[in-house]
Amino acid sequence: MTILVTGGAGYIGSHMVLELLDAGERAVVLDDLSAGFPWAVAEGAPLVVGDSGDQALVARLIRDHGIDAIIHFAASVIVPDSVRDPLGYYRNNTVNSRALIECAIANGIRQFIFSSTAAVYGDPAKVPANEDTPTQPTSPYGWSKLMSEIMLRDAAHAHGLNHMILRYFNVAGGDPRRRAGQSSKAATHLIKVAVETALRLRSKLEIFGTDYPTPDGTCIRDYIHVSDLTCAHLDALRHLRAGGPSLTLNCGYGRGFSVREVIDTVKRVAGVDFRVETAPRRAGDPARIVADAEKVRTMLGFKPRFDNLATIVEHALAWERELMMRRARAEPEPAASTPPGSERAGRRAK
Ligand code: UFG
Repeated sequence: MTILVTGGAGYIGSHMVLELLDAGERAVVLDDLSAGFPWAVAEGAPLVVGDSGDQALVARLIRDHGIDAIIHFAASVIVPDSVRDPLGYYRNNTVNSRALIECAIANGIRQFIFSSTAAVYGDPAKVPANEDTPTQPTSPYGWSKLMSEIMLRDAAHAHGLNHMILRYFNVAGGDPRRRAGQSSKAATHLIKVAVETALRLRSKLEIFGTDYPTPDGTCIRDYIHVSDLTCAHLDALRHLRAGGPSLTLNCGYGRGFSVREVIDTVKRVAGVDFRVETAPRRAGDPARIVADAEKVRTMLGFKPRFDNLATIVEHALAWERELMMRRARAEPEPAASTPPGSERAGRRAK
């Protein structure tokens, strides 16, 4: 049986495809390439260019590839962008998820794993936040994901779809074998921005807000290695296949680091100093968000392999260097155009 990975050409999705292929699974990628790159999709997985909300296309893929599970990553994920363009976020994240869930149910999908976010908790009164912490997003991005969670939960209840809602904390790092990493050109995520600055791809890093009610005044986040996160998805898939109940689970390590601590770690691991300036707060940022990560360990037997901020930074740096080398060799750049609905065969497809 085959797993459809929406957003499989993007950062987390491309690591998921590697995780699945490494485990001997078959995967098909559906991606509109708005943020992903064709070259990021591992050779073993066919890439279909299109919209995850296109029900006719998804139904055809389910039929043609014998798909029985969907891992749904495709989404817009930049918190401040969602504040500027809420309707775009509700369309791409919420409306498309609704269409995909409906199509999954209509076409007999057996397992559905949804990529949700810690942003559903907003700025919780108490950290760490567990899965029962009241949801109160502080950005349209968080609301767009929370609405999708609710639709999935209700539709799954009505129609018996086995599902998993995984709430990611701050995902960072790259494949330890340097086969994939965070490749966005205008990245906004802290660790990516910091390693780019360490490698002189940017002249400085700005800290957005130093007056938060935290020990050093900067925001606190729980950073999880992308390969641990994809491993949790594989655990979730196996749990559902074995008849385990549908669950909502936090994916983090349960430890918070401030923006300043992250910057210090990047400087130490990279062995360089770089310019850091303070700037006003960024819209939609909660002060402090850390996971209570007990449930994912007990319910799925999830065992992180890279629970160490320095290791996450090391792998992020290694990928950034890899990207620089590839750019210097002028390879591989994103394809100029790939017609919607077209399929690039996986060369190692099983
Ligand atoms: N930050 C800076 N300077 C930068 C970039 C980020 O100070 O150049 C700060 C941000 O203001 C924030 C922290 O670093 O305080 C982390 O910001 P990111 O942009 O790296 O990540 P976010 O916390 O905004 O969001 C990420 C994901 C969301 C997810 C959330 C969960 O993008 O999908 O983590 O905490 F919901």
